Amino acid sequence: MATEQQGGPKTAGQASVAPATGKLGVMVVGMGAVATTFIAGVEAVRRGLAKPIGSLTQMGTIRLGKRTDNNSPKIKDFAPIADLNDIVFTGWDIFEDNVYEAAAHAKVLDKETLDQLKPFLETIKPMPAVFDQFYVKRLNGTHVKKGKNKRDLADQVRADIQAFKKTVDRVVMIWCGSTEIFLEQTAVHKSIEAFEKGLETDDPGIAPSQIYAYAALSEGVPFANGAPNLTVDCPAMIELSKKNAAPICGKDFKTGQTFMKTILAPAFKARMLGVRGWFSTNILGNRDGEVLDDAQSFKTKEESKLGSLEYIFQPELYPDLYKDIYHKIRINYYPPRGDEKEAWDNIDIFGWLGYPMQIKIDFLCRDSILAAPIALDLVLFLDLAKRAPTLRSIGIQEWLSFYLKSPQTADGLYPEHDLFIQSMKLKNTLRHIMGAELITHLGLEYYD
Ligand SMILES: NC(=O)c1ccc[n+]([C@@H]2O[C@H](COP(=O)([O-])OP(=O)(O)OC[C@H]3O[C@@H](n4cnc5c(N)ncnc54)[C@H](O)[C@@H]3O)[C@@H](O)[C@H]2O)c1
Repeated sequence: MATEQQGGPKTAGQASVAPATGKLGVMVVGMGAVATTFIAGVEAVRRGLAKPIGSLTQMGTIRLGKRTDNNSPKIKDFAPIADLNDIVFTGWDIFEDNVYEAAAHAKVLDKETLDQLKPFLETIKPMPAVFDQFYVKRLNGTHVKKGKNKRDLADQVRADIQAFKKTVDRVVMIWCGSTEIFLEQTAVHKSIEAFEKGLETDDPGIAPSQIYAYAALSEGVPFANGAPNLTVDCPAMIELSKKNAAPICGKDFKTGQTFMKTILAPAFKARMLGVRGWFSTNILGNRDGEVLDDAQSFKTKEESKLGSLEYIFQPELYPDLYKDIYHKIRINYYPPRGDEKEAWDNIDIFGWLGYPMQIKIDFLCRDSILAAPIALDLVLFLDLAKRAPTLRSIGIQEWLSFYLKSPQTADGLYPEHDLFIQSMKLKNTLRHIMGAELITHLGLEYYD
């Protein structure tokens, strides 16, 4: 918990963020590579077997006051973030494998690590999922709920949430399931009323991810989306999120290639260097790669990955530098690589007097190793948002865009993709809810 000394002068806001007492239940939809790496990782950290590298909530600090104050507590000591020891996991999948078996299948973590965690991981068994192959063509699971319509399925998920709620103090849901086919908003997504009617009539515009999200938000449970699916990115869900004080954020974990893009593109723009083309390609061989090998799921991912450059470069403001960028993204399924993806970028830039230059990136990354700490932070920060009076009923938590390829914003606002602006926004939001002074980086006071 924050102290007067750490947080600087208190305001009314600070006193009113509720403490993180009791157990935090985390409901994970889809227990594949990311989810099992996340769950196994939390357990490994709890047992002191490894460090939570990549997690801002666990390792990050936040500067308070002036640079000369030397006051940079850990974020988790400044804001009342749930303790890892208080997290309890459950979830759903279309396959019956327990988390140990699913993690072994995903082949992200080595056998030695998994075997140490086996007794714990084996206890987490997925509940039957809401699934329809129409929305994920490459998967076919048997561990699936049956219902007379989508409303019935949503009610079954709500019953799962209600039962879990009896065993913990607070609940957050996170989608770590597959990428669904590309869906655009239709009339059914425009209001809660239209959506609920659509559940009754089995409207094809309602994908399984939206049935989970609807169930979560109806139960007042915050919802994070690790995939690029439409899910909560529509007026009906925003309305529900506000109505039931169940925070939501954007979608699609920002892990490898887009992470790099949202670091480099702002740098080129800050220096007024032009960009002619940006070609991005990937090879990956995990189940996610197999799902994305289907054109309709790839389209969903492509849309999410394409957005960042357009918004960062603002070609309408800088036509000489960014008007006609050729931006291309490819994802190729290549089984030998498993989760150890390779992401190449070729960037054609130009400088003074238009002279061309090239930059090449070859990121040999591990997809789920990058995604797991993001899943953890999103869950912990959404739980914090739910306890913060200034955040809980505003719906979209734009300050969490830091973690996401497709930030969600209020109507009429363009999304902020620049990683450093996102980081500043996140930390200032924490300062704000804890009643600490915001940091503008103006710094003139040091020269008085
Ligand atoms: N790893 C990364 O770096 C990264 C980055 C951004 C986004 N993502 C997204 O995160 C998601 C998970 O990635 P992954 O590598 O763990 O994939 P994965 O294929 O290993 O796991 C997905 C799991 O979801 C399950 N599933 C699918 N539909 C479901 C449903 N309706 N209900 C319950 N379970 C369902 C699948 O059976 C599978 O076990 C994907 O959508 C992926 O695009 C991953």
